[in-house]
Amino acid sequence: MQKNDDLLRERRKDEHVALGVKQNEQLAPSSLEDLQLIGTSLPRYNVKDIDLKTTILGTTVPFPFYINAMTGGSRHTKKINAELAEIAREVAIPMAVGSQSAALKNSSLIDTYKIVRETNPNGVILSNISPEVAIQDGLRAIDMLEANALQIHINPAQELVMQEGDRSFSHWLTRIEEYVKLSPVPVVVKEVGFGMTRETVKTLADIGVQTVDLAGKGGTNFAKIENDRRRDQAYDFLLDWGVSTGQALLDMQHRDAPKIAYLASGGIRNPLDIVKALALGADSVGMAGQVIYSLKKDGVLKTIEKLEFWKEQLRGLFVLANAKNIRELKETSIIISGELAEWGKLRGIDMVQLANRK
Ligand SMILES: Cc1cc2nc3c(=O)[nH]c(=O)nc-3n(C[C@H](O)[C@H](O)[C@H](O)COP(=O)(O)O)c2cc1C
Repeated sequence: MQKNDDLLRERRKDEHVALGVKQNEQLAPSSLEDLQLIGTSLPRYNVKDIDLKTTILGTTVPFPFYINAMTGGSRHTKKINAELAEIAREVAIPMAVGSQSAALKNSSLIDTYKIVRETNPNGVILSNISPEVAIQDGLRAIDMLEANALQIHINPAQELVMQEGDRSFSHWLTRIEEYVKLSPVPVVVKEVGFGMTRETVKTLADIGVQTVDLAGKGGTNFAKIENDRRRDQAYDFLLDWGVSTGQALLDMQHRDAPKIAYLASGGIRNPLDIVKALALGADSVGMAGQVIYSLKKDGVLKTIEKLEFWKEQLRGLFVLANAKNIRELKETSIIISGELAEWGKLRGIDMVQLANRK
């Protein structure tokens, strides 16, 4: 029985990778397209003046983007984790591993995660667990990687579509609260691409969570991935479930939104998406699908080159926004249009104030 469960988990991880990569060949539009920054024709700064550094989870890092949680937990994904860790090391960006449940249940898979720390001994590495994981096991997950922070993923929509997924969720909040109290490293609670509303963020802030990753809809779609894994495809009506990354970011602009640190991810495709998310208050921006797609299609070196070029492109975009650093970028005026504006209006966001911030 135990062996069957282990095999099922390994196969699931390999299927997630294959289906996630396939999805990235034709992604649905992301609502970040309905967001436009107001720039300048007379920049105050030169490209070389721009400072991209940011502070997340108590650590200052040189660049405001990171590789989000994906792999580990099968033989095949050990290699992928090694390659992602090499990319993270060379580009000097943080990286999260995929859910460590597999290794906590089957110790022969520990090396498929540990390879990340071995490849990148001095990097900022994030552990990843579900709130299903008992505290003593979660602490082992942190130790396994000598992790700098702990990601806890909350993914009820994915679990429900997954045939073998969880069906009980009401104990998650108490479990997360225990982690906040007992984790030796900072905790970040993340979605997996269905996005968080300001109400969810407030519920988390109220129990002491200090950082969330909004992880909105618009990129990798786990309703679709899990539905494709089912023989009956019974959840094809749920493929559009969730709050997009643009919506989640906009929701955090509401006057009643909790004042906590947030990261953004979900459907980030290019440096302009990163700049938009930072301008809307995110301290850093995560990417999963894009990185694994680039890795599979072009390999490690080309992916490193691409992300290195992104740094230069980011500096150029800061110049256009007349911002020397992320603090100044967060004062940029932003126009919200289209469906995102409709959504923002119904959620009571002051979009005129956003459009005239400076
Ligand atoms: C192949 C794959 C595996 C993933 N596995 C995990 C996981 O184990 N834990 C987790 O928190 N998120 C996982 N995610 C979700 C990502 O971290 C991210 O939240 C989501 O893919 C949205 O970002 P994207 O649009 O940049 O892909 C996975 C994503 C992909 C593509």
